[in-house]
Amino acid sequence: MSFAATVRDELRRAAAARFRRLGRDDDAARLSAEAGTVEADPARSADDARRRWNVRHAARDAPAAPAAFVVDRASHLPTSGRALDLAGGTGRHAVWLARRGLDTILVDVSDEACRRARHAAAAAGVALEVHRADLSVDGPPDGPWDVVLSSDFLDRAVWAEAAGRLAPGGVLLVCQPTVTNLERHDRPSRRWLLEDGELGRLAASWPDLEVLEISEGWRSRGRHEAWLVARRHACQVSASGTV
Ligand SMILES: C[S@@+](CC[C@H](N)C(=O)[O-])C[C@H]1O[C@@H](n2cnc3c(N)ncnc32)[C@H](O)[C@@H]1O
Repeated sequence: MSFAATVRDELRRAAAARFRRLGRDDDAARLSAEAGTVEADPARSADDARRRWNVRHAARDAPAAPAAFVVDRASHLPTSGRALDLAGGTGRHAVWLARRGLDTILVDVSDEACRRARHAAAAAGVALEVHRADLSVDGPPDGPWDVVLSSDFLDRAVWAEAAGRLAPGGVLLVCQPTVTNLERHDRPSRRWLLEDGELGRLAASWPDLEVLEISEGWRSRGRHEAWLVARRHACQVSASGTV
């Protein structure tokens, strides 16, 4: 797919997400179809997602450690300001960000994940705001954000919106498996996988972002993942004011 077509589809998906939130489901469905996205009934899929993820989280044991991708990028991250963990699950990254000194909000569709994230934050002795919400329906919370993290959650429209809500100088971290992962693993299923090369194309289509790092490959934990680190351009201050 050409770069221009990717950008067009991205704009359509972002517009579809906005229409969905405004209750204009017909417009949302039309734009999603034009962008090649198959749309489920939003209310039904929100409930399904909530139930499905509740079951999965309830079946999990101890919370996992934060991913090396995130921890190893600490030098890119501020130690104060506001951080948003998209679909943050049981809080492994949100707690880590909060420990670094960031005022952190975790959003997740699963009540069980949110309950566990609150518990993890309390056990770690850090403040963490936890919102139960379906990001695909409600969109990301208003910024500005100094850090936005998405690890193992794929919603292109939500990413685009969250990237647009970064503060000047704010950092976006994305870690997501790609279709190549299917060569060795059945899961995550196709719905959660990026096309090869897609994350770089998406990042290039989001305005005002400087890509600091983009890579894809088999990672040490055995998965094929795309990694992105990008920073929103800082405002330039001229003699006549802020540009
Ligand atoms: C594979 S887990 C990743 C959790 C966390 N980001 C991490 O890296 O540990 C995917 C998470 O996405 C959440 N999720 C799935 N669909 C969602 C949606 N539409 N809105 C918000 N959260 C969602 C699930 O509840 C689950 O916690």
